[in-house]
Amino acid sequence: MEKEMRKTYAPWTEGKTIRTVGVLTSGGDAPGMNAAIRAVVRSGLHQGYQMLGVRRGFHGLWRGDIITLTARSVSEKLQRGGTFLMTARSKTFGTPEGVQKAFEMCRVFGIDALVVIGGDGSMRGANELAQLGMPVVCVPGTIDNDIGCSEYTIGYDTAMNTAMDAIDKLRDTASSHERCSCIEVMGRHAGYIALNVGMSCGAEVILVPEIEMDFDRHVIRRLLECRNQDKHHYIVVVAEGVGDTLDISKRIESTTGIESRVTILGHLQRGGSPTIRDRMMASYMGAEAVKCIAKGEFGRVIALQNGSIVDVDIVEALGMKKTISEDQIMTAYDIAL
Ligand code: F6P
Repeated sequence: MEKEMRKTYAPWTEGKTIRTVGVLTSGGDAPGMNAAIRAVVRSGLHQGYQMLGVRRGFHGLWRGDIITLTARSVSEKLQRGGTFLMTARSKTFGTPEGVQKAFEMCRVFGIDALVVIGGDGSMRGANELAQLGMPVVCVPGTIDNDIGCSEYTIGYDTAMNTAMDAIDKLRDTASSHERCSCIEVMGRHAGYIALNVGMSCGAEVILVPEIEMDFDRHVIRRLLECRNQDKHHYIVVVAEGVGDTLDISKRIESTTGIESRVTILGHLQRGGSPTIRDRMMASYMGAEAVKCIAKGEFGRVIALQNGSIVDVDIVEALGMKKTISEDQIMTAYDIAL
């Protein structure tokens, strides 16, 4: 009954059948977004929908940058990084006028339902359209894995593997020179990449924005203890949101006397061919988004919960938070020495 009440159709369908479905990618790109678009398009075509691709995210939506997608339009995309529909961080869309214009453009192109693939900002944008009556379904796509309602977001695994490969290489040279290697990984607000890549690379120090660490105790003393126990490398993984990694490196070098170098992995982590985990999650989640549309369930976010793909109310999803515990960081610390 609760779900029944969420059945809102785009006003221009007059409560009739969904015929045309649009899909867009928004915010930072993530490996696997192409696989998700492919799953949405092919599942939609199997349902008998006409499929439209909105290029350049919400920015492209209000500008009417919309193309027809066929089964062949998504051929050879599964294994490619990036998003062939392109993406943008739209400033205009965030305004009430921008949202209204985007809504109007859905009417102009006859988009009866819209699938939005992106992170939390994209989810918020989708919800604004939903508030105007637009039927939307979101698919979580961001390397940050920071969507509260979902245990997984598309792109996370590939980004972590890219960072892990890079840190393994940096460790070789750090060991040869007995240096400290401060590596900044992405995550302005979330430290999931830093935590799990750090743990998987045996980092001696992991710094994330969620947990305030005592610099003297958890960085300086920690590194000196590592040196005193005859370690030959000192890997410090810093999430982008923690602060100035160059400054952290300088403080380490001047206080411990251990020579230190900085590497900022940056956008390298956003590219590359998606791993099997990302291809699978993108395929299942994209297909699930179309199943929601076919059932007339809108204002939903596809999520991984307890290992299963489910759909969650978008307003509830926006209110859900997940975070990193100090215990998780300390576990990584304990096993690195
Ligand atoms: O949200 C994904 C992400 O890669 C964050 O980890 C990072 O802080 C941000 O996007 C960078 O955004 P941009 O590509 O716009 O600089």
